[in-house]
Amino acid sequence: MSDILFTTFGKIHGDSHKTKLAKRGILTVGYRRSSPSAGCLQATEAYLIALNVNNLERGIYHYRSHQHILTKLKDGIDPDLSQILCHQSFALDASFLIVLSSRFDKLWWKYPHSRAYRSALMDVGHLSQTFSLVATAHKLNTWLTGYFIDDLLNDLIKVDGHKEHSMFVLAGGHGPMDPLSPGVVKLLKATSP
Ligand SMILES: Cc1cc2nc3c(=O)[nH]c(=O)nc-3n(C[C@H](O)[C@H](O)[C@H](O)COP(=O)(O)O)c2cc1C
Repeated sequence: MSDILFTTFGKIHGDSHKTKLAKRGILTVGYRRSSPSAGCLQATEAYLIALNVNNLERGIYHYRSHQHILTKLKDGIDPDLSQILCHQSFALDASFLIVLSSRFDKLWWKYPHSRAYRSALMDVGHLSQTFSLVATAHKLNTWLTGYFIDDLLNDLIKVDGHKEHSMFVLAGGHGPMDPLSPGVVKLLKATSP
């Protein structure tokens, strides 16, 4: 889990030119990830929903990329995750989910126009692809979804939905290796002639 978080969202490069640039009055955000990011703003945050992860209590965490630490937001997972994810059965088979959110407050600082939304989507896309590669290299199955109830997911990760908004959900685990959940198999049996 730690390696997947670090390789996908962690601070891979520091900001070696920070002092030199600061002397010339140029501000930098201070770190770079393994994926590119619009304006190097790192405007995508990662929230881990740990369902069944070794050595990690079930709960909701925020991943602090530049420090490589998890901050616990909530013990356990009280709300009905299935409802938030529109009853997509794959969610419950996962070992963990990672909610990606975009920090629009950061993006608007540099891009004060609607094109900021384009940057947000591209950043999320890059990080999702990197996650898929890294998780696959760790022999995990992956599942990605944009189908969820925004307000409920924002509440779960404690973001306001304006300055910061949930955008995409990534998941990993070992899964049942059957593309159909037991519920769907039952339904197919009941409805097939
Ligand atoms: C959506 C998006 C838009 C970008 N636009 C520009 C740009 O207009 N000019 C530029 O020099 N770099 C641009 N970049 C590259 C970023 O500045 C670069 O990824 C960031 O500084 C981090 O550097 P790195 O990818 O070498 O780690 C863009 C990257 C992304 C993902």
